[in-house]
Amino acid sequence: MVCLGNICRSPMAEGILRHKLDQHDINAGVDSAGFEPFHKGDPPDRRSVEITRKYGIDISGTRSRLFNVSDFDHYDKIFVMDKRNYMDVMYEARNEDDKEKVDFLLNQINPKSKNEVPDPYYGGNEGFENVFRLINQACDRIIIDLRTSK
Ligand code: 4NP
Repeated sequence: MVCLGNICRSPMAEGILRHKLDQHDINAGVDSAGFEPFHKGDPPDRRSVEITRKYGIDISGTRSRLFNVSDFDHYDKIFVMDKRNYMDVMYEARNEDDKEKVDFLLNQINPKSKNEVPDPYYGGNEGFENVFRLINQACDRIIIDLRTSK
């Protein structure tokens, strides 16, 4: 799961998907990363921690890290939150195999829509509610796909 700062959206996406994988007893690795080094090593934004906690998920232990080209080797899918993240990840892709791994997270809900999970950093709490709702829906679809492809 990739966003810009790796403190608001992608840590939520990582925590929500991991929670659902555990619930469905699916053995799959999930992680998150960003491209903006300003918050490197930081825990998630307090508002992301609070909203996910409200839904029974603890993301307080994650720390912001930068995307690394080796992530293409470690993961089958790279989900991005918005168009900027898409450009950033695609720029790092070494070949067609890498590029094929990259997709907008919300394409899981509406294929090929390229809809974005909006950056909630400078907004209020309602932005985080909206982000949670969108990511949660998308992760439900990921779980359905994984279960049907078993
Ligand atoms: P995120 O939000 O990409 O969802 O983690 C942001 C958080 C911090 C910054 C940008 C986006 N920042 O530039 O500090």
